[in-house]
Amino acid sequence: MTETELKALGVVRDADLKPLTTFAVPAEAKFYAEVKSLDELRRLLSHPELSCEQRLVLGGGSNILFTKDFEGLVIGMRIDFLEELGETEQSRTIRVGAGRSWGQLVDELIERGWSGLENLALVPGTVGGAAVQNIGAYGLEVAERIVKVECLDARTLEPRVFDVSECDYGYRSSIFKSDQYADLIVLSVVFELPKTFEPRIAYKELAAFFDGKMPQMPAEVAEAVKSIRRKKLPDPAVIPNAGSFFKNPVVTRIKQRHLLEDMPQLVSYPLAGGRAKLAAGWLIEAVGMKGRRVGDAAVYERQALVLVNYGNATGEQIMALAAEVASKVRLRFGVKLEPEPVII
Ligand code: EPU
Repeated sequence: MTETELKALGVVRDADLKPLTTFAVPAEAKFYAEVKSLDELRRLLSHPELSCEQRLVLGGGSNILFTKDFEGLVIGMRIDFLEELGETEQSRTIRVGAGRSWGQLVDELIERGWSGLENLALVPGTVGGAAVQNIGAYGLEVAERIVKVECLDARTLEPRVFDVSECDYGYRSSIFKSDQYADLIVLSVVFELPKTFEPRIAYKELAAFFDGKMPQMPAEVAEAVKSIRRKKLPDPAVIPNAGSFFKNPVVTRIKQRHLLEDMPQLVSYPLAGGRAKLAAGWLIEAVGMKGRRVGDAAVYERQALVLVNYGNATGEQIMALAAEVASKVRLRFGVKLEPEPVII
């Protein structure tokens, strides 16, 4: 491809990815381009050479770790809009561009006094990323509010719309994360928001925050969530990180019972289907890894589930620390920890 061609498409060669991800580790993309509209995206993907490259879509870059350069095309998703589609007596329906900042969306809805997403205040990333990985926090998973996910098939350049029931949403998972659907690029998400404010404050720390008082407005819940998050989770703009580095492992109830016999203090939650979720942060703390630092890669001292980069850590160094954490937990508890962010 000639430099003129690249320029006309807004493509940068050997682009620095460090400022585009919240882990801020060094990495480059062979090609990088930002798209603000469906037309721009189609133009990019219909270029004969670029269409053959491996592809990666970056939203807020807040759930990804590069351990090497990306030998292909990285697309910065910047399709950003918010429109109201209609309302009934019970709910409002909105459609939001995949590139809109998630935190901004929640704040905007709160300003309007609209409820439904307040428990997910201050989650980093974009609307597209939220729909791909089914973000969840403080008692709410975003899939509960999603009606449809609108995509472009990067191979055929045809639109595809998925009803929420087709997205196979689970704990931090969806079809959009699976290899089978790797050609789909999320363009926008349709949400249905309940008009009646039903505060969801059963999560232990939220319940403690409100201490028996019922919040009257979604803004109160959002403020509570923000203050809890700020106390425990490092601000990626100050200490680079990608939120929880591991998923909370899901085990059988039998395994949970065995672990509890040994360690009654273990934090765990029963799930449907004879399964249980264990608090990975607790397990990591129990093996003495909370606060462990190797060079600039560290286990955050206030939340052991979060790995941080104190400046010059590489993706490989973060992965080496993660492997040490996982191996200690496996040896001691026989529980496998799996990374939550996408590892490249
Ligand atoms: N815990 C410890 N030590 C620690 C960390 C946690 O003992 O170092 C214990 C806590 O005392 C608590 C339990 O583990 O009893 C759960 O901790 P917390 O409420 O902080 O939540 P988490 O399970 O560690 C999950 C999500 C977070 C989300 C919070 C709140 C995952 C992988 N992480 O963390 O999501 O904000 O719940 O709902 O499910 C993210 O995905 O990036 C993320 C930050």
